[in-house]
Amino acid sequence: MAFDSYHCSICGRRVKLQSRADMPVLDPNTGFAICRSCIKNIYHFIEEDEENTFRKHKQHFNDELSEMLERNKPHLIKQYLDDFIIMQDRAKKILSVAAYNHYKRMKYDAENVGGDEEIEKSNVIIMGPTGCGKTAMLSHLSRLLDIPFAVTDASSLTEAGFVGADVEVAVRNLYYAAGRDIEKTEHGIIYLDEFDKIARKSGANNSITADPGHEGVQQGLLKMLEGSVVEFTERGQRKHPEAPTIKVDTKNILFIVGGAFVGIEKIIEKRLKKNESPIGFGSEIPSKEDTDKKFNELIHQVRPEDLMKFGIIPEIIGRLPVICTLETLDEDALLRILTEPKNAPVKQYEKLLAMDNVKLEFEEAALRHVAKLAIERKTGARSLKGIIEDVMLDVMFEIPKTDKPRRVVITEACIKGEDSPQIFPLKKTTLKKSA
Ligand SMILES: Nc1ncnc2c1ncn2[C@@H]1O[C@H](COP(=O)(O)OP(=O)(O)OP(=O)(O)O)[C@@H](O)[C@H]1O
Ligand SMILES: [Mg+2]
Repeated sequence: MAFDSYHCSICGRRVKLQSRADMPVLDPNTGFAICRSCIKNIYHFIEEDEENTFRKHKQHFNDELSEMLERNKPHLIKQYLDDFIIMQDRAKKILSVAAYNHYKRMKYDAENVGGDEEIEKSNVIIMGPTGCGKTAMLSHLSRLLDIPFAVTDASSLTEAGFVGADVEVAVRNLYYAAGRDIEKTEHGIIYLDEFDKIARKSGANNSITADPGHEGVQQGLLKMLEGSVVEFTERGQRKHPEAPTIKVDTKNILFIVGGAFVGIEKIIEKRLKKNESPIGFGSEIPSKEDTDKKFNELIHQVRPEDLMKFGIIPEIIGRLPVICTLETLDEDALLRILTEPKNAPVKQYEKLLAMDNVKLEFEEAALRHVAKLAIERKTGARSLKGIIEDVMLDVMFEIPKTDKPRRVVITEACIKGEDSPQIFPLKKTTLKKSA
């Protein structure tokens, strides 16, 4: 189509075509044309608008971070954990500070984009005997925090090529916890539970010499801890070269790893003995209390070299600067766990039976006996619920047979299996008042 001038459909100006610079955007079918000057204005408008949106987004993110910092001060996080976890004060403090500092790093990074000074993250390793609250504490923490938090069982991880989950699964779990938002994933927290299970079998704690699988897992995890771009496929998709992948940079992800590290106290003791710093326990056969006391004293003295002896590669240990140890729970602590936490087993059964018009009571001696049995089983607080469940089964089966208000008392003899729970009739008003 030959023409030497056109009308701009936006500004209405008549433009003479004298050079290439005057060429409009033109639809030859409709004659719709936009002149260069209007194109420039539109471009300028879009650029400015995008800049404003970005600025607003950043401001919004900064405001959000400030609010998060306010909400997640260490003493507030600890207060929340106190509602569920008995004892373990030091661990609760360490984790509260770690989480708060994680928010602070995010805020610092957001305010200093492009800056070359950065606050380094402090990954945490938590260790303590079985059933002392490691997994429970972390899962409560994950419910509280405003950032994505995913728990992955390290014992399920295998080196690429072996049957099992690749180390990337830990990041993928976080990606899903973040609602598949990559930016949020990159600022999340990963808890690797059962971390001791990936110790090299050739560590002093184990007798087998070669263990390429676990060493490979540790090398894989090391890359993540150091900060690298991890690639993975969506859940349910098989890994093959053409499968679309998601890429997540782990540089700013906080890692917390935890495990029981069974036997590490022996490694610590050996080191201490070598250094001739006896910790003052007699050589006669120790009682259960002495063993616990000794374990607690030893575990608090753990050093990176003990973890190395246990079978964790030094490069990983170097990336876990905060070591947090948990205590063995004694009878009194177990007794408190039965009744005090918001989700305490006794409270749960009381609520369940109240729905059947029943006021449930545990005698103090009964609860103490439950704690004693749990100690015998050597599984920390883990077995408490099971022991009560055994006793409560018959009650929970019998009670719903009628709707009559009743009072059920669990005595020490019930726990010992020598007697059945005692059931008394109750006036409706009494139950309502006390429930
Ligand atoms: N300190 C505690 N306060 C309150 N409840 C606890 C505490 N420790 C353990 N529990 C209870 O016991 C159960 C088992 O504890 P948890 O799973 O946290 O043990 P763990 O330390 O992770 O042990 P493991 O090393 O065997 O994995 C929890 O679900 C929780 O109900
Ligand atoms: Mg656990």
